[in-house]
Amino acid sequence: MRFDVNGTTVEADARPGQCLRTLLRETGHLDVKRGCDAGDCGACAVILDGVPVHSCIYPAARVGGRAVTTVAGLADGDELHPVQRAFCDNFAFQCGFCTAGMIVTASTLKPDDLGDLDRRMKGNLCRCTGYRPIREAIHAAVTGSGDGVAVAGPAIGQSLRPPAGRRIVTGCEPFTFDIDVPGLLHLAVLRSPHAHARILAIDTAAAEQVPGVEVILTHRNVETPRYSTARHEIRTDDPDDTLVFDPVVRFIGQRVAAVVADTPAAAQDAARRIVVEYELLPAVFDPEAARSAGAPLLHPDRTLEDGVADASRNVIAAMHDGFGGDIDEALANADVTVGGTWRTARVTHAQLEAHGTIGWLDDDGRLTLRTSSQVPFLVRKELSYLLGLPEDRLRVYTARVGGGFGGKQEMFTEDLVAVAVLRTGRPVAYEMSRTDELTATAYRHPMRVDVTLGARSDGTLTAMKLAVLSDGGAYGNHSPGVMFHGCAESISVYRCPVKRVDAEAVYTNNPPSGAFRGYGLGQVIFAIESALDELALQLGIDPFTIRRTNMVREGDDLLIAHPEPEPDLVYGSYGLDQCLDLVERALAGVDGESAPAGAQWRTGEGIALSAIATMAPRGHFSSVNVRLTPSGGYEVGIGTVEFGNGTSTVHTQIAATALATTPERIRLRNGDTDAADYDTGAFASAGTTVAGKALYAAASSMRELILDTVFQLTGEVGALGEHGVQTSTGLVRFGDIIAAAPAQYRVGDGIQTTGAETGELRSIAFNVQGFRVAVNTETGTVKILQSVHAADAGVVVNPAQCRGQVEGGVAQGIGSALYEEIMIDDSGQVSTPTFRLYRVPQMADIPATAVLFAETADDLGPYGAKSMSESPYNPVAPALANAIRRALGVRPYELPMSRDRVWRLAQEGTPQ
Ligand code: FES
Repeated sequence: MRFDVNGTTVEADARPGQCLRTLLRETGHLDVKRGCDAGDCGACAVILDGVPVHSCIYPAARVGGRAVTTVAGLADGDELHPVQRAFCDNFAFQCGFCTAGMIVTASTLKPDDLGDLDRRMKGNLCRCTGYRPIREAIHAAVTGSGDGVAVAGPAIGQSLRPPAGRRIVTGCEPFTFDIDVPGLLHLAVLRSPHAHARILAIDTAAAEQVPGVEVILTHRNVETPRYSTARHEIRTDDPDDTLVFDPVVRFIGQRVAAVVADTPAAAQDAARRIVVEYELLPAVFDPEAARSAGAPLLHPDRTLEDGVADASRNVIAAMHDGFGGDIDEALANADVTVGGTWRTARVTHAQLEAHGTIGWLDDDGRLTLRTSSQVPFLVRKELSYLLGLPEDRLRVYTARVGGGFGGKQEMFTEDLVAVAVLRTGRPVAYEMSRTDELTATAYRHPMRVDVTLGARSDGTLTAMKLAVLSDGGAYGNHSPGVMFHGCAESISVYRCPVKRVDAEAVYTNNPPSGAFRGYGLGQVIFAIESALDELALQLGIDPFTIRRTNMVREGDDLLIAHPEPEPDLVYGSYGLDQCLDLVERALAGVDGESAPAGAQWRTGEGIALSAIATMAPRGHFSSVNVRLTPSGGYEVGIGTVEFGNGTSTVHTQIAATALATTPERIRLRNGDTDAADYDTGAFASAGTTVAGKALYAAASSMRELILDTVFQLTGEVGALGEHGVQTSTGLVRFGDIIAAAPAQYRVGDGIQTTGAETGELRSIAFNVQGFRVAVNTETGTVKILQSVHAADAGVVVNPAQCRGQVEGGVAQGIGSALYEEIMIDDSGQVSTPTFRLYRVPQMADIPATAVLFAETADDLGPYGAKSMSESPYNPVAPALANAIRRALGVRPYELPMSRDRVWRLAQEGTPQ
């Protein structure tokens, strides 16, 4: 079969049933991405004879004689296609994994299509951006108004474009699987069909007969110590309750066996032929039942030493703590009390690049893993522990990671690939499918949160009582941290003399929960901010006033509850008051849409606030090296990973600013255990505040070294610039500076300095979200008329990029608040295993959010910056719930506030 791809003839035969996506990738077109394999996300979009198609559902056999254009074929030589240029100019990507397909589809649009843009783009999902910059980029490109956008410089506070921009929009930036590895084997996993069972026997005889099978891995031939898939700086922060293969399965979807074969099809075929005999065990899916007497126990042999609080009650972690006095007495003495029970749903990260790893032995026989991870150093550390390999016999690195949101802080694929490579001696790849992602990774913890507030009649809080029940699922990964963190800042943000927290995270036979943007805060804040809003309504106080009355002010104690000592949380800066002012003014203005006409539409406004520590709890370290080369280039070895959080741009800005050079002269080598010193990883928004600070220290040392050396050479204090150091007598070039620098700084042909940051002091950042909504009482539709978000991010290093992080967080918050829910049936089976059934917001679902920044400068962060990638998510759901409450007169207590639930509320309500 012959067909054209980007103007070049390709000869290739399609296998029976093969889709166009895999054929294109097999013929070298790695710019065509894999997102869902079901035609739902558009990451694989290509143009076929002028028409955009999802290549993952287009039969490859039908492409003979036809012309395919991928994103790599849109540019005309060096000249980008207008849509590609507009995506660069408008910061229309974060991780960039959706971008190839998004640009391909957008490139087919005409001006007449813009009025129907939401529908035209509904087949292309973006999980990172919130769509606003994509929409603007498409408008600019299609109307021809995209030229002439000024290019910003690297200075702090300017919106420098991402260094990878051109590569992203042309499809050239490699992600994890965009690499050709000769002799690659493929791994497929057999998963448990039972929620709780003991494996009695595994018969692999038929599977072994499948041609191409190299090895089959089960609990019988893979023995490791217990560990946790969650990765943290302190490995004992998560319970050791997991095995690579466990003879007991505790949720539907748990690994039972893995087959390694020479093709994906052979591996999958063989996995299906494995026969497993199970003894079924009683299962429990409700977290309240799970901690009750007589419940089936999931990990009865785990102890406190293993990190499990009370295995006899399925309790992974518990927190029972009070501050300031007796809570019942304080509530009894209050002028007014409000309370309720709020429930949040199980939601998934839905990052478009699935988890996956490719591994091989390098020329030195060293195990090398290229993986889609946020934490390569922590993966190396844990694999060293599991496999008994010295760390220097392991290299773990990332290419660009296609989104993570905390989900890639888990080790879901690296262990299997490592074992398979060591067992076969050959390169092995394992890439999860979208259904694997939706059924067998880790979700946001569903929580039940009981809140009771006591207050004086003027609205001053006198008592705050919190009871939290968190569903950890079958394994305890991240459950302790999510529970402690979720309770800590959410109660710390309000002054209140008496506080009480009783929280437990429990095992159930549901799929595991894990780390997700906001790390438990969003769930608890949903309840607290809803309860506070109810208090305001009861007392007739407006929602801004009741928050100003009670919120912490700079200098107030910040209570951070945790059973073990934590790094100090202090006010490096304070901008909560500004954030409230900004949102109040914006909601009082004229921005936003008008409510649709008709008596069935009722409108309401709602706000919510949140606080978050700007560094990870309990340790986050980064050590960065900067090397100056004779040409005046700087190589930065930095361990943190770029996965759409924008750290590579911020790090380029920090380095270029500190070293008075241009961004083009900064070359980052990030996310590679061989290229950088230790870094805990890219989570907890630490890329700016920890790694960025370490980089600032390393770059400052380099600057000092350069200027000191010039002083030794010339006796003058010069000015560092792009080509060397300018003194009154002339330019001292970098080659001469390197030659004269002290020998201990020499590395290769350059000089190198290092900087480190330990994250021992934590600052605090704030966010306030406001919404004006219209609610249709006949359909339950919630239409967001205005969305405004104020963020206290300290000095904003890159405003366009930071705005994108806020918008992305708000979009994910809207998704969880209105649409998203992983459904699990009575047997423990996920019934939403595809994007067709799990509703990731499309372009039409996400309104533009006005993003406003408080003007603060943090004493602790680099150049006064604070982190701002997790926290915008947290106040979104309660702000929406409060707006719906004020529209309908009835309060939502459960997420998502889907149309059916809102419709039911509307039948009860009367407008306030
Ligand atoms: Fe769209 Fe990451 S930028 S999915």
